[in-house]
This record gives sequence, C-alpha cells and structure tokens, in this order.
Amino acid sequence: MNVNGGIDHIPVMLGEVLEVLSPQRGERILDCTVGAGGHARALLERAVPGGVLVGIDLDPRALERAETTLRGVKGGRYYLFQGPYSNLDEYLLKVGIEAVDVILFDLGISSMQLDDPSRGFSFRYDAYLDMRMDDSRGFTAAELLNSLSQEELERVFRVYGEERFASRIARAIVERRLRYPVETTGDLVNIVLSALPSRARRQRIHPATRIFQALRIVVNDELHQLETGLSKAVKALAPGGRLGVISFHSLEDRIVKHTFRQLARGGGFELLTKKPLRPSPDEVAGNSRARSAKFRAIRKAG
Ligand SMILES: C[S@@+](CC[C@H](N)C(=O)[O-])C[C@H]1O[C@@H](n2cnc3c(N)ncnc32)[C@H](O)[C@@H]1O
Repeated sequence: MNVNGGIDHIPVMLGEVLEVLSPQRGERILDCTVGAGGHARALLERAVPGGVLVGIDLDPRALERAETTLRGVKGGRYYLFQGPYSNLDEYLLKVGIEAVDVILFDLGISSMQLDDPSRGFSFRYDAYLDMRMDDSRGFTAAELLNSLSQEELERVFRVYGEERFASRIARAIVERRLRYPVETTGDLVNIVLSALPSRARRQRIHPATRIFQALRIVVNDELHQLETGLSKAVKALAPGGRLGVISFHSLEDRIVKHTFRQLARGGGFELLTKKPLRPSPDEVAGNSRARSAKFRAIRKAG
C-alpha cells in the first residue's frame, strides 16, 4: 500500500492522460489494460456520477487489484473482464454498451508483474521463464526457447528485440539445450552474456533486455493483439470519443503512429498529439518504468 490510493503501481503519465482524454461526467470509459486500476480509478472519478468504466486485463491477479482500487470510487459503476483486449467488442456487448467516449491502452507489463519473482519477466530474479500474462494458457518462454529452430529464434530476437547479436545468441541457445533445457531467467542471462562479444556486455541497459522483450512479445502475441485491439477500439468510439495509447518500445509505437496517422488522413479523426507526449523528467526520476513511455491520442469527429 502507498500514497496512491492504496495501489503500489504508479500510473504512468497520468496527468497527460487525464488532460488529453479529458473524461467528463456521465461518460463511458474503456480501459483495455486495467492492471492495478490506477488510470482506471482516476478516469472513473471524473465520470461520476452517471459514468461507467469497463476494464479488461489478461492477468487474473491484476483484476483482483483493480477491483480493490475501483471499489474506492464513490458512486462509480464498473465492469471487469479477464481476457485479451482483442475481445473488447464482446465485452462491451455483454454489458450493453454500444459505444464509448474514452479508451485507454497502457501497454506492456505492469510493475506488479515485473516485480513478481515467480513469473519470469525479469532478469533481476532467478525464476522459471514463464512470461505469460495469463498463465492459464499458451506457451511459456522456456517452452519456446526449447522448441523453436535456430533460425526461428534468430528471427524472434532480430524482429521483436531488434537485437544486433541475434544470430550468436540463437546459436548459443541451441548449443546449450543439446545438453540441458533452458529453464530459468538465470540460464538465459548466462547464455546471452556468454554469446556476446565483450564490448557488447558493457551497455547502458542490461545486455539481456532486448532478448527478454522479444520473448515476452511472442509469448503474449503482443503486436498482433495491439493491431486487432486498436482496430476494434476505433470502431467502438462514440462521436467525439478520445482514444489514447501509452507505448514503451518502438515496435508498439510504430503501430500506434501509423494507425492514428491513417485515421487522421482518412478524415473523421483528429490527432490530439501531433508528436507523442513524453513523461516529465520529474516523473522519470520517481518512476523508472516511465522512462521510455510515449503517449499518443486521437479524437473521433463529433
Ligand atoms: C502497464 S500495465 C497497466 C497498468 C494500469 N494502467 C494501472 O494504472 O495500473 C499493462 C496491463 O495490461 C495487461 N495486458 C497486456 N496485454 C494485454 C492484452 N492483450 N489484453 C488484455 N490485457 C493485457 C497486462 O496484464 C498488464 O496488467
């Protein structure tokens, strides 16, 4: 528990999100990545009385936290769904909401997920390489590392991690798994370090960062989710509705930028952020997760 209304997760760029998406009393809000509910709570607080929030998350543990956070909003009406935001149309239908006024995506993983040693998202803890946001389905990162071919691994690291040494790292993984399977975050970090030339081990970011990012994207099908989710979100916007996305790496931001530019060019949508907004230096100093955040938003003509 902390000063943020009982949530440990600090919502990224909250001031910018509220200013640009500008939720009003009585509006319908959709938070596609509700997480611990930090953004959702602040959005819903501005929509009461009369407003309603629908929150979605893949992670059942996140939804428990969101429930606790949102319960504190006096007079707030909300519905929570466990599942992928690419199903957002089904969830809205279930609660009889035809269109929404404000939509937010705050992409990637939460600090709760990153800081949970058992989930294998972080190289800071030695743990089984799971990396599934919904750990009841799909393949774990360890299963992928032990089953993809060398060429497939190299492609994953190059495309989703933009990793220069993708080929060396893929080869080292295949050589290692001939002897023992790659099971833990510690195994993977050691393999990556052993595969890199010594100059590449002295980087500002941890040398395994891009490999962890690549695996997480594939395990959770993140880019495909984003494309489908955005296209359904655009359809769900009411006239005058605002849609905002906080992204954390260039692959996500590229998809958001192109989608929004195309919508603006096609007419009927206005860019609310000509360039992406970035967190203030103060925010980054207080929350390192905000460091790479970019926020873009559009508005549907009213
Ligand atoms: C950065 S956190 C959101 C934090 C939240 N805005 C808050 O203030 O607490 C991202 C959340 O999105 C969820 N998530 C990621 N991909 C998803 C998807 N395709 N569908 C639904 N939820 C997803 C993750 O499980 C995680 O809880």
